[in-house]
Amino acid sequence: MPTYQQLFASNRRWAEGLLRTNPRYFAELDEEQRPDYLYIGCSDSRVPANEIMGLEAGEVFVHRNVGNIVANTDLNAASVIEYAVAHLKVKEIIVCGHYNCGGVRAALQAQDLGILNPWLRNVRDVYRLHRDELNDISDSEARFRRLVELNTLEQCLNVIKTAVVQQSWVANGFPRVHGWVFDIRTGLIKDLEIHFEERLKAIQEIYDLTNIPPFRP
Ligand code: CO
Repeated sequence: MPTYQQLFASNRRWAEGLLRTNPRYFAELDEEQRPDYLYIGCSDSRVPANEIMGLEAGEVFVHRNVGNIVANTDLNAASVIEYAVAHLKVKEIIVCGHYNCGGVRAALQAQDLGILNPWLRNVRDVYRLHRDELNDISDSEARFRRLVELNTLEQCLNVIKTAVVQQSWVANGFPRVHGWVFDIRTGLIKDLEIHFEERLKAIQEIYDLTNIPPFRP
């Protein structure tokens, strides 16, 4: 691993390399960002958002936290989603969990984790929602992997519950919401193939926010 001081040399090499292929690379980046994708993923250092999708700077708007959680009182996640959908007009929102997630593993433990307790409560709530399915899985590793998938699915539903996503869908026909799980052992992404329109319809039986006009100061 490079030392802290070596990071500056790495940065210069990176910038110079890009300028060799396109002398206007950073000038063009500086003009504006027009990403088609919003990626919501885990903070885990082994799951680098841009790299796993082969995307360059400017191509994906990124939000990461422990356990790729979209909590309804989280002003940070809400602001990212609002900005990405209402202003950047992203076409696809991806919630990407990953197997062997430390956050999800911690939520499976009977342990006081301090300030992580309320955060990981979101994952424990996912377990409670899917308790029957999860408890039927006898192999603990398989149960852990399934909880990673179900947590990703539930966070997708939390994204769909937001007013800005519902209203943009009605007005523009985008964004769609996708759930992925990244497998660190293979480097490959698994698409959970969430049927966005069906999920949206089901959610709107209770969480329909499409008739509320957006606030105009
Ligand atoms: Co993780």
